[in-house]
Amino acid sequence: MTNNQKKIILYLAPLRGLTEYIYRNAFSRHFDGFDAAVSPFIPTMTAVRFKKTHLKDVLPENNHAMPIIPQIIGNSPGDFIPLAQSLFDLGYETVNWNLGCPFPMVAKKQRGSGLLPYPQKIEAFLEKTIPAIPNRLSIKARLGRNKTDEILTLLQIFNQYPLDEVIVHPRTGKQMYDGEPDLDMFEKCLQVSEHKIVYNGDINDLATFKIFSERFKTVDRWMIGRGALANPFLPATIKNGKDDSANKIDVFRAFYDDLFEQYRQAFHGPGHLLDRMKGFWTYFSRSFQNSRQIKKKIHRTQKLEHYLKIVDRFFAEDAKWVD
Ligand SMILES: Cc1cc2nc3c(=O)[nH]c(=O)nc-3n(C[C@H](O)[C@H](O)[C@H](O)COP(=O)(O)O)c2cc1C
Repeated sequence: MTNNQKKIILYLAPLRGLTEYIYRNAFSRHFDGFDAAVSPFIPTMTAVRFKKTHLKDVLPENNHAMPIIPQIIGNSPGDFIPLAQSLFDLGYETVNWNLGCPFPMVAKKQRGSGLLPYPQKIEAFLEKTIPAIPNRLSIKARLGRNKTDEILTLLQIFNQYPLDEVIVHPRTGKQMYDGEPDLDMFEKCLQVSEHKIVYNGDINDLATFKIFSERFKTVDRWMIGRGALANPFLPATIKNGKDDSANKIDVFRAFYDDLFEQYRQAFHGPGHLLDRMKGFWTYFSRSFQNSRQIKKKIHRTQKLEHYLKIVDRFFAEDAKWVD
């Protein structure tokens, strides 16, 4: 069976500070290919500190375009359960638990990938949380915090619980985003898990997707983050098994203008807006020839007016899609 005949599910990965609702909605107005997104994480907190603004990214009124699975990061069932309940009340039948965040500030509090070396804590969390929440639970994990085989013990624990799916990014927390994903260990995960496994990591083009899908024939769910930020035509290209997008620069420009305008309306102050745009251009630049040059120019800018001129000139004179 070829890729374009095989039915696959594509998820947009959560990237905090990038793939929030404004991006997801703009993406859906201009591109295709994602079946759903996992939202960037919402941290658990005690009821006293909790405000409705914490849920802004997942409020149904902000999410008409792309179905989402809200993600929660935390390690205390006492704080996780009411948050999952609030999300259920908003209509979310599934929530995702983040066991992957690699940042030391998060991990040292035994959250995200910082919890991976503690299988007993994870088991105790699941034991308390699963019967107490009305939602189904899915998990997004790395291979481990320090070692790539920490996941194998965890998958056996996961097998004892009714999970919706397990998303695996085959790196350790310590690796952050460096080095290659460990595909051999991912293959072992497929052998050990009785749950549906979603592959996530470094799907940056159709050729890479084809290599992964040839190798992991039982996988029909894939998650893409940076590759889709860089090249928003990629999800549809993967779904179609070929790239039949035309006028890429014009389509991308219309998307970019829309995204910029939505952020301009949502954000107060040019500094905040400029920072967010710089974050996007880290990835956008990768789809253009001479990407380092445009990225550097944008990242050096300190003034919004200057930024606007650089981007205008880039689209008018220099922008050439890489393919
Ligand atoms: C800036 C940034 C923010 C991220 N935020 C989250 C997050 O909120 N939750 C999460 O599970 N993963 C987060 N990730 C990890 C991505 O979801 C994904 O697992 C990772 O980028 C690998 O997939 P990719 O190679 O397709 O991008 C983040 C990654 C980056 C680079």
